[in-house]
Amino acid sequence: MSTVLPQPAPDAPAPKVPAHVAIIMDGNGRWAQQRNLPRAKGHEKGAESVRVAIKTCKKLGIKFLTVYAFSVENWNRPKPEIEALMTLLKKFLRNEEREFHENKIRLRAIGRLSDLPKSVRRELNHVMQATEHYRDATLVLALSYGGRTEIAHAAQELARKVKAGTLDPDTINEAAISANLYAPDIPDPDLMIRTSGEMRISNFLLWQVSYAELYITDTLWPDFREEHLAKAVEEYGRRHRRFGLVG
Ligand code: IPE
Ligand code: IPE
Ligand code: MG
Repeated sequence: MSTVLPQPAPDAPAPKVPAHVAIIMDGNGRWAQQRNLPRAKGHEKGAESVRVAIKTCKKLGIKFLTVYAFSVENWNRPKPEIEALMTLLKKFLRNEEREFHENKIRLRAIGRLSDLPKSVRRELNHVMQATEHYRDATLVLALSYGGRTEIAHAAQELARKVKAGTLDPDTINEAAISANLYAPDIPDPDLMIRTSGEMRISNFLLWQVSYAELYITDTLWPDFREEHLAKAVEEYGRRHRRFGLVG
């Protein structure tokens, strides 16, 4: 694989690297369609891009990578496509376990995981447990994930605590909601990338995205390679994050 990462000048200040990158991996279907291939082929090729993204994050020093692999809305796709995606997910987990160990990558998952077929859940739980002691980098798979579902779930958790008498409703603030999301220990994304040119969030990390820098590229997910991610990170480094403050 060719390396096209920009080389910093010898005494240049260290570039700003996001701690957490979240990616809406979109365009697999269009990639396949352009080649007269079945949509599943686009998903297969997209899995290769996930591998590349993990490696590139490791190389660039990005600690957290969250990828939107399957949304709650995606359950409404044709059954054969859902089955192909679930089979691919199992295969991905099986094939990548070795890479995770070699690179000390921890695997996590967010979403309504109980929706997933049992065989997928089994594989997922196995790899998550086998890698839970790694801290070099974390890959978060968003599976059967919906941002609104996640916030509604947090509300249920809080309500349960109020009912049990362990939580005073007056103390419910932003931190309390954050603490009841699927992965409360993972920082909010700094950079959110969407491939294939669509200008929308599609129910991804609605709560966490509040101050993320957005980067949208026309590149279709199956074509997304090291240089594309490096370019997004480079642009992130040039952004001025103000968080509502002055200059
Ligand atoms: C993204 O690619 C993968 C999933 C949503 C699972 P799409 O399948 O949405 O591809 P397009 O948007 O139809 O091209
Ligand atoms: C978002 O892509 C979901 C994932 C990438 C898993 P979609 O293709 O499902 O989103 P829409 O339909 O274009 O909004
Ligand atoms: Mg799509």
